[in-house]
Amino acid sequence: MERQVALVTGGSGGIGAAVAVALAAAGASVGVNYRSDPEGAAAVVAEIEQLGGSAVALQADASREDQVRSMFRALLDRFGRLDVLVANAGIQQDAAFAEMTLEQWRAVLDVNLTGQFLCAREAVRIFDRQGRDPGRSCAIGKIICVSSVHEVIPWAGHANYAASKGGVMLMMKSLAQEVAPRGIRVNGIAPGAIQTEINRAAWETQEALQSLLKLIPYGRIGRPEDVARAAVWLASDASDYVTGTSLFVDCGMALYPGFRDNG
Ligand code: BGC
Repeated sequence: MERQVALVTGGSGGIGAAVAVALAAAGASVGVNYRSDPEGAAAVVAEIEQLGGSAVALQADASREDQVRSMFRALLDRFGRLDVLVANAGIQQDAAFAEMTLEQWRAVLDVNLTGQFLCAREAVRIFDRQGRDPGRSCAIGKIICVSSVHEVIPWAGHANYAASKGGVMLMMKSLAQEVAPRGIRVNGIAPGAIQTEINRAAWETQEALQSLLKLIPYGRIGRPEDVARAAVWLASDASDYVTGTSLFVDCGMALYPGFRDNG
């Protein structure tokens, strides 16, 4: 990934932070976007600099058009180009369907789906302007949409989240179809249960963890680095013949493990 520039949204913690560090370790310069955790983003930038890499923290709410545009401008001011977008910023606001407020519905759709649209649109515009540079990478640009196993697994009590991730999947595939002739690759990563703040309640007690593990055939909760390695592969020329694909990084969660011994 040397001489390439990546932007990771939601890069101040969890999966995004691991992706930012892994891309930097592979040689990319990295924009680390955050919305409300400047300390987290600064720690990721410091970790990258310790590795001998370059990174910059960029504040922006991914669901706000004006903020997204200034974030991309700031990234170009600092590094001069963009090769990889990892659209990762995401939130959960869970509620039973009958109790879900319009604010909860909108907040999740705005960040998880509209935010990815706004960032991917900026990235495509920049890739088109930059054009081809085969010495740097085969594609003119690469977009990775971080989705979830819930792009296909229905999730009671999380209808806003599952709807947003199903939307991300078809936005990703439609965009991949549209821009492949221009040399842009667009793929998704659908993580399963990865141990981060967003799902703390699902792993912080032994009881919760044991019940979660019943849904994961391989028998362990995921780590952010599990997803980061997949992101580096999808961002690099090693995956140059791959576009429009959702890569499930879930150790079998989407294999309907409940059907293992009955059904
Ligand atoms: C959600 C987590 C959940 C996982 C598996 C993720 O997309 O953000 O809260 O543990 O899916 O259900």
